Amino acid sequence: MTILLSVTGFDPTRWTEALLGTAPDERIVLRPSSASDESIRYAVVWKQPPHVLTDLPNLEAIFSLGAGVDHILADRTVPEHLPIVRIVAADLTARMSEYVVWRVLDHHRRGATYRAQQARGLWNERRQPAAADIQVGILGLGELGQDAARKLAALGFRVSGWSRREKALEGIECLHGEDGLGRILASSDILVVLLPLTPDTRGLIDDGFLSRLKRETPLGTPMLINAGRGGLQVDSAILRALNDNRLMEASLDVFEREPLPAASPLWRHPRVFVTPHAAASSDPAALAPIIMQQIAAHRRGEPLANLVDRAAGY
Ligand code: NDP
Ligand code: OXD
Repeated sequence: MTILLSVTGFDPTRWTEALLGTAPDERIVLRPSSASDESIRYAVVWKQPPHVLTDLPNLEAIFSLGAGVDHILADRTVPEHLPIVRIVAADLTARMSEYVVWRVLDHHRRGATYRAQQARGLWNERRQPAAADIQVGILGLGELGQDAARKLAALGFRVSGWSRREKALEGIECLHGEDGLGRILASSDILVVLLPLTPDTRGLIDDGFLSRLKRETPLGTPMLINAGRGGLQVDSAILRALNDNRLMEASLDVFEREPLPAASPLWRHPRVFVTPHAAASSDPAALAPIIMQQIAAHRRGEPLANLVDRAAGY
């Protein structure tokens, strides 16, 4: 049985070693031997080139090397009947919650202001609202959003979340649908975006969205954190909102174009914190065993877990 590993932007050697470390008897190839390679039963991918999965007659399932699967669904050459499995892993979830808590605390504790003051040698204590006075809204209450919500609530923040379907989580105000979106935008002091990129969410963070945010918060105006996908946001709308103070600060891990072009004003904006799509990296040592266990279970006839709903787009 052969597993095809097709990755762009990830180190194939590290992933091959990690996958074989769990299952040394399997065969991993980086490309099919022919366009219709019959030996390939599973594909493990991150931004695979188009057509690589099109004609493999014995391919049974595709595994994403990340939580997001927009990179697979955007490839119209991937056969529609194949199940797609995404990563759900404690390691990835913990990394994302670290990023979210880090950015929320940095905005709450005025990191940007104090860094700017330090650069000028300025000793000036700023008013410090308590965590209990800050409302954090999280768009996307899935695997990642729920964990971040619980960790922020444990720190004392008031937390609400928004999802597609109705849900209930202890200690978190749960909102959904269009009405829920209006409510979470109008109430959040710090807004965290952990949505998948789908036809429904593409371009969500635009001028209209940003104009629905609160006018005043205990920290000034709202802060935005996006670690979902760059396609959720309109970079220029975020810049406009920052420049007319509808937004006070932003932490952006994802961008419309990645790598963020050198000419983007977001790089140099004093109230923007940029990370290079690194909020929660896929760690081969942590994730390869999960993928190989799933493949082994599938070969024993067990159902695949964490399947993507193609109609919903995530
Ligand atoms: P999940 O599928 O577990 O959760 C997605 C959440 O978004 C769910 O709560 C879902 O609602 C909600 N949602 C989807 N569509 C809509 C919509 N139209 N309106 C309202 N809510 C919606 O995904 P994860 O939490 O595991 O991951 C989320 C995303 O994070 C990934 O898709 C990926 O893009 C991004 N990511 C980014 C990383 C980075 O390093 N920057 C790393 C890992 C992931 P419902 O609960 O009703 O289904
Ligand atoms: C993911 C990512 O989707 O790293 O896991 O972006």
